[in-house]
Amino acid sequence: MAEVNTNRAQEAIAFDQSKTGVKGLIDAGVAKLPSIFVQPPESRPDPSEISTEQLQVPVISLDGVESGKRRAEIMGEIREASETWGFFQVVNHGVPLSVMSGLLESIKRFHEQPSEMKKEFYSRDNKVKYYSTSALHVNQTAHWRDTLAIDFDKTISDPQSLPLACREAFVEYLSYMSKLRYALSELLSEALGLQSDYLEDIQCMERHRFVCHYYPPCPQPDLALGLTRHSDPSFLTILLQDNIGGLQVLHKDKWVNVTPMEGAFVINIGDFLQLVTNDKFKSVEHRVLAGTVGPRISCSCLLFPSEKNHYKVYGPINELLADGTPPRYRAISPSEYDDKYLARGLDGSQVLDWFRL
Ligand code: OGA
Ligand code: NI
Repeated sequence: MAEVNTNRAQEAIAFDQSKTGVKGLIDAGVAKLPSIFVQPPESRPDPSEISTEQLQVPVISLDGVESGKRRAEIMGEIREASETWGFFQVVNHGVPLSVMSGLLESIKRFHEQPSEMKKEFYSRDNKVKYYSTSALHVNQTAHWRDTLAIDFDKTISDPQSLPLACREAFVEYLSYMSKLRYALSELLSEALGLQSDYLEDIQCMERHRFVCHYYPPCPQPDLALGLTRHSDPSFLTILLQDNIGGLQVLHKDKWVNVTPMEGAFVINIGDFLQLVTNDKFKSVEHRVLAGTVGPRISCSCLLFPSEKNHYKVYGPINELLADGTPPRYRAISPSEYDDKYLARGLDGSQVLDWFRL
C-alpha cells in the first residue's frame, strides 16, 4: 500500500511540474484517465445517490426588490432557500448578460492560450494563481479541471497583475459583483431579522476570491470528478456557470443537479455564514461531475472578510441568541478557519465541526 502511495505522490509531482494542467493532457491526446485522477470507489459518482425526484434549487427573481411588498416576498424566499437548501439561483439581478458571458469567454481564453503564457502564473500561493487541484499533494487524487484564482479586496488595486486574457473582463465584472454582493448582504440580514446593514457592518464579505474553473471533456467520467464534495470556506459564494451542467448539491442525502439557467447566478451559503447564524442558514455540500462534453467554464466568487480582518473573530450573532438559544460554535477568525481547511485538503469531515461547542 505504501508503495502505491509513493507512486501516486510521484505522479502528482510530475503532473504538477508540467504546469500545463488537465488541458495539457487533453492537448497531448490522453485517451485513458491517468491514475492520479481515479477517485477511490467511495467518492465516485454513484447513480443510486442521485435524486430521482424532479427537484430544483429555488429560483428567485430580484425584480422589484426596492419596493416594500415585493422586497418582503423576496426576503422570505431567500430565508426559506437558505434554511433548507443553502443554495438558490437569482435572476433579474441587474448584471447584463453580456458582462456574464464576457467573463466566461475571458476565462476560456486564459485557459486556452499557449501553455507558455499560463506557466508564469502556476502557483498555489500568489494572489493571482493558476493550478490544477488545490490540495493535490495533500490527498493525492487530482480533479479533472484547471483553475485560475484571483484575490482582491474591495477594488482591484493592481489590474496589471491580472492575466491579459481576462484583465478587462474582471475589472468590469467586479464592479457589478460589488453591487450584487451588497444587495444580497442586505437581503440576508433582513432574512435573519436583523438591520439591513448588519452583515455589511461586520465586514464579512469585503474580499472577493474569484475561482475560475475550466473542466475539459473527460475520457472516463465515471471514475473521476471535476470537483469533489465540499462546502465553501466563504461567508457567501456567487457562482456563474455556463450552460453545460455538472454541478450537484446534496439535498436530503441525495445529489440534485443545479440546472444551468441563462442569465442566472447560483448563490450559496458558506461555512462562515452557517457559523454566525448558529446553523439557521446552511452551508451545503456540493460537487461537480466530470463530463464527456466540454470544456465547462464556471467562476465562483467567494466572499470573505478582508485581509485586515483576518484575525478578527466571528461567532454566532448575539441577536440570534436573544431568545436563549445556546451558541453552537465558538467564535473563530478567518485565519483559524484557513488552517483547518488547508489541513483537511478539501476531503473528509466538515471543517465547521471543528468549531462546534
Ligand atoms: C467552487 C465550486 C462549482 C462549479 O469553486 O467552490 O463549488 O460549478 N464550484 O464550478
Ligand atoms: Ni464550492
